[in-house]
Formats: sequence, structure tokens, C-alpha cells
Amino acid sequence: MTETDFIPSAYPTIVLEGTVEWKSPSNIALVKYWGKKENQIPANPSISFTLDACATTTAVTYKKLKEKGANFSFDLSFEGKPKEDFKPKIEIFLARIEKYLPFLKSYHFNIDTSNSFPHSSGIASSASGMSALALCFMSLEKELNPEISANYFKNKASFLARLGSGSACRSIEGPLVQWGKHKNTNGSTDLFGIKYPHKVHPVFNNYQDTILLVDKGQKQVSSTVGHNLMHNHPYAAQRFAQAHTNLDDLQTVFEEGDLKKFIEIVESEALTLHAMMMTSMPYFILMKPNTLEIINKIWEFRTITKSNICFTLDAGANVHVLYPESEKEQAFQFIKDQLIAYCENEQYLCDRIGLGAKQLYN
Ligand code: DP6
Repeated sequence: MTETDFIPSAYPTIVLEGTVEWKSPSNIALVKYWGKKENQIPANPSISFTLDACATTTAVTYKKLKEKGANFSFDLSFEGKPKEDFKPKIEIFLARIEKYLPFLKSYHFNIDTSNSFPHSSGIASSASGMSALALCFMSLEKELNPEISANYFKNKASFLARLGSGSACRSIEGPLVQWGKHKNTNGSTDLFGIKYPHKVHPVFNNYQDTILLVDKGQKQVSSTVGHNLMHNHPYAAQRFAQAHTNLDDLQTVFEEGDLKKFIEIVESEALTLHAMMMTSMPYFILMKPNTLEIINKIWEFRTITKSNICFTLDAGANVHVLYPESEKEQAFQFIKDQLIAYCENEQYLCDRIGLGAKQLYN
């Protein structure tokens, strides 16, 4: 499959107006995407748990223009209020995907979006937001060409979401999605995320993710800037090779349900991600003192109780605490007793593995 497969030929149907709505979740990477090439092609393959509760709901109302415009025509509201400062990001996204959705300048769009998680919680909304929007546009494409197959629909939705934000391509499906060419993962591609195709042990069913909101402020360095710092990074080649090895090892872990090895890979990936930030030029640190306090508490608790609780991090100070459903009670008690004190205003979000995006309205 190549990207030209996503350039449609003339549409058989005329569609004047309508509304579509999708709810798309966030995801948390186990093997991290950090570093990219031209056109949002990842420097290494990654894999993530799709989340369930943390999601963006986006409704797009479209109306055909009398004639195709020179520019994109859209209004944007966030949680019911016009949101001008989100518009440039959407404008860039539309420009990147227009080649694959040639109808975009033929309609006026009202895009209305909201998040299930609190605004400015430090939780990245680009994965859920871009995937929800990509799905809405795919629903319109499906109206224009009802022959589109379910497979083409989800692959192209993921492909388009990737052009908005790389990690967004892993939010269309669940519970485990892999993105990026990896020689031992059947069907894996740099173009879009695929549902993890190999065996997964039931211990990973309903895995829990409690997100500790350590710092809700704006990040000092955006992911996009961070990715770019992997160009000419002194450890880039080793890091990219390590991601491939970790995916190989995870295959056995998923098959056998080896939680000890799972923890080793997932925590190492999180710390490697942050080590890449600390060793780039310019260097930067996104963890906060409380991030480290939490990590140390988790290690201490694991040593004492032999529990399988572990952590991962995204590009920020917040901590995702992962644990199997069978340990939920004990883990949650520990989180409440010992970890919440390190969160900003004691805030945290309870989430779990989810199955992907859902269409709410068509
Ligand atoms: C650390 O997908 O936010 O969360 O493609 O520039 O939008 P852009 O980056 P983004 O990067 C996510 C980085 C990460 C790791 C991951 O999710 O794999």
C-alpha cells in the first residue's frame, strides 16, 4: 500500500449538507514514537494502548458551497465557544490532507469539539482531537462514495490523523495499535496504525491507566520541536534500533503475559524518551520533581508488595500508572494513599484500555 492509494478518483454521489459526529480516544504509547522524517513518517515503530475515558467528541456540520473556494472555509468551536486560536492548527491539517480529500474546499464546515478530560490538564488532546476530525471527514467521504470498504475507511482515517499528529493515527482502533514498519509485525506500515495482529494474553484485557496530573501547565517544549531534535541527536541510531528490539520482545510478552518483562520494557521506554530530551541540543527536561517522587514510590511499592504496577510517561510531567485489572483494588488504594499528594490540586484521571473511536451521529 502506498499513499497514492488514498487519493480518490471522482466521487459518484453529490452531497449538499449534513452532520457527522465521532468520539475518539487518546492513547498511551508503550514503545514511544520520538523522531520523525518528512511527511509525518516515524523514525521508529511504536505501539500503544488505546484509552477509553479520555476522548474528544467532534461534530462536523457541512454545507456545499456554490463553487469551490480558494481557501478552506470553516468555523471552530471548543466546548460550545468559538476558538480562534485553534484555527491555525486545523488550517495546517486541512492543507496537509487536501490532496487525499479533494472536496475540502467545496464545503463550509462547522467544527464543534469537546474533550472528556479537563481543559489544560496537561493531557495531550492532539491524538484524540485529530483522529476525531479525520474520522468526521472520512464519514463525509463515505457519503460521497458509499462503496468505500470498512477497511479502507479506518486505514485512511488513521492515515489522515497521522498527518495531523503522528500519535493520532493510533487512536482509531483498540485495544493495542502499532504504527510504523517493523519487520516482525505482519501488515505494519509507516502510513497508518494497525490493530496489533498477534496473540495477546488475557492479562492485558482491561488494563488500567490512572493518569496523575503532576503539572497542568503549558509544556516548555512542544512534541513537534522535540521530534525534530532527534535529527543529529548523538544517540538517535541506537534509540531507533532499540524501539525495534523492544517491539520484538513485546511480542513474546504479549503472547505469554510476562508482566515482569512488560514492566521492564515499558518503564525503560518512558525513561529513554526523557533521556533523549535531556541529551538533545538544546536539551530540556519535562519531568518535575514530583514525577520522580511518584516513580520512586512506585518502585518502592513494587518491591514491598510484588505488585505489577508500573509507570509510563508521555512528553510531559504527568505519570500514567499502569496495572492489570486483577490488581485494581490494591493499586488504586496505593495511588490514593501515596501518589495523589504529588499531583497538582490532587487531580488524577481514571482510565483503562479501550476499543477505539465510535461514531455518534451520521
Ligand atoms: C511522547 O504525536 O504529539 O507522546 O506528530 O509532532 O504531533 P506530532 O507528535 P505527537 O508525539 C507524541 C510523542 C509521545 C510518544 C508517543 O505517543 O508515541
